[in-house]
Amino acid sequence: MTSRKISRTLGVNIDHVATLRQARRGFEPSVLEAAREARRGGADGITVHLREDRRHIQDKDVLELKRQIRLPLNLEMSIAPEILRIALKVRPEKACLVPEKRQEITTEGGLDLFRKKRQLRRTIRALLHEKIEVSLFIDPDERQVREAAHLGASAIEIHTGAYANAKGKARVRELERIRRGAVLGSNLGLRIHAGHGLNYGNISPLLAIPEIREFNIGHSIVSRAVFVGLRTAVAEMKKLISAK
Ligand code: PXP
Repeated sequence: MTSRKISRTLGVNIDHVATLRQARRGFEPSVLEAAREARRGGADGITVHLREDRRHIQDKDVLELKRQIRLPLNLEMSIAPEILRIALKVRPEKACLVPEKRQEITTEGGLDLFRKKRQLRRTIRALLHEKIEVSLFIDPDERQVREAAHLGASAIEIHTGAYANAKGKARVRELERIRRGAVLGSNLGLRIHAGHGLNYGNISPLLAIPEIREFNIGHSIVSRAVFVGLRTAVAEMKKLISAK
């Protein structure tokens, strides 16, 4: 029997390079240089989250990444009108709509596509109109997946945080939820991405889900980069996701 290799892409989230820079409000480490190193390590795209509180990535970073880095830019963003205006100005290749709370340490759950529906629909339409691919960051919940397709999104990014935090049987259950969400989304014509909390130790079971075509990974790669350098850290993750 011949098995065809699935081509999956790795988007490297470099928010935490900016977190380190913002600790001193200075110039280092450089987000642009991080993106270049990620590219040299085999990243297929660069992902950044321009948060409303600007705790890490700044407006200038997004503009410079778009202008200077020869990789598709995936902008994680809330549906706040101010952020949408910036996205429409920068015109990244992709936008991933995420929920955002000021007090959270990181994005805690998926978007509820049944809340703020008009604003959500308007945001999706405006981005698609500029030929920006839109993905919706959601939990692998059947209603949410169906609604994502209904809203005309290009893709969903399945929130893998619950899977990453679970252990034992609970983790197996979370993996099955992700698989079902991915199959449903794919059958509805959505591209399937996954991200949040993924690391070198927990990525492998997700590779058994052929519908997942893109991973967006940040914290674990930047953490490993402290010891081996960003290029190597990215190359190691790329090797893992290319294994099956
Ligand atoms: N995907 C989305 C939509 C996210 O909000 C984040 C966190 O910014 C990630 C992926 C990356 O998560 P992590 O840093 O845990 O790898």
